[in-house]
Amino acid sequence: MIPFSKPFLTGKETKYIEEAVASGKISGNGMFTQKCQTFFEEKYGIKKALLTTSCTDALEMCAILLNINDGDEVIMPSYTFVSTANAFVLRGAKIVFADSGDNEPNINVHKIEDLITPKTKAIVVVHYAGVACDMDVVMELAKKYNLFVVEDAAQAIESFYKGKALGSIGHLATFSFHETKNIISGEGGLLAINDEQFIERSEIIWEKGTNRSAFFRGEVDKYGWVDVGSSFLPSEVIAAFLWAQLENLDKIQAQRKKLWDKYYTEIEKYIEKENFVLPIIPEYATNNGHMFYLVCQSMEQRSNLISKLKKNGYMAVFHYLSLHKSSFFKDKHDGRELENCDKYADRLVRLPLFYELEEQTLESLLSIIYKN
Ligand SMILES: Cc1ncc(COP(=O)(O)O)c(C=O)c1O
Repeated sequence: MIPFSKPFLTGKETKYIEEAVASGKISGNGMFTQKCQTFFEEKYGIKKALLTTSCTDALEMCAILLNINDGDEVIMPSYTFVSTANAFVLRGAKIVFADSGDNEPNINVHKIEDLITPKTKAIVVVHYAGVACDMDVVMELAKKYNLFVVEDAAQAIESFYKGKALGSIGHLATFSFHETKNIISGEGGLLAINDEQFIERSEIIWEKGTNRSAFFRGEVDKYGWVDVGSSFLPSEVIAAFLWAQLENLDKIQAQRKKLWDKYYTEIEKYIEKENFVLPIIPEYATNNGHMFYLVCQSMEQRSNLISKLKKNGYMAVFHYLSLHKSSFFKDKHDGRELENCDKYADRLVRLPLFYELEEQTLESLLSIIYKN
């Protein structure tokens, strides 16, 4: 069976883990953690980067940093992973789900303003498949209504909006290094802080509510409990693994984009035959080769495609289910139809895409789709 996703190892992961172990410092915030954080700060213009044990954890840190409380409203797309919403629900937020665009799974930024009320505190955008949301529109709204913006950039490493790195635009942003992402550490994530007012407190929340980071820098003579927090920082073992991946970012990205381009050009040739809708990369956005998806004409067409590929040894998979219709949330939703979100939940399918996928395998997969 050709899997949908397969972790790629650069070969240096265990070497760096051995180095971390040999150094005698394997808890968090050591040399490899610093290297990874500096990489994000310098390469992407992020003011402060903190490694976390997952993107879920980074999102939970955002909700704490923004002081989300009972009844605060947070606007976000319904077409996203549960963690985007859960992080804010945990702090008592009322989630106001927004629809996707007509031509993109991303939140329809032109419909956000209608959802803003005096209780709105934040807008969370998700750069689906690593393709940017139209951030100028979102940041303008945030300024007008005095709101915070969180970019869920779980899938968006090395992708840009009008030349600016995704994750460097919102007040806060989060990345994922789960094994299904472009750059991985098994489980792992990163919090990006672009608004300086959050930097000092973010380190405290990260270190169980203590000022331990400041203590190790020699800024205070003892450390203690100064705020709420949790254990959000990963061990050096995880950071060492991640560093081996980041060192190979360019190589990994080039290969994933090559495969993505091949899917696109091949499927475009046959577009009349099956009528799939191809992904659109707006002129303000870039493609980071995270995911190749198609939108089918119906759920039935998608089911047939998935089972045909499965019968021939290829895993293709659908993605998110509409969160506003989930068993947890359906009674809390205000009843608005979110048609585009439902369309992507019902009809979007993702094809296998991973570093070691051979072009020949990709061609054989496509010949199964277009056979007959
Ligand atoms: C948009 C989005 N946000 C958050 C997450 C959670 O990431 P993690 O598994 O690192 O917690 C995911 C997971 O795939 C995701 O797709």
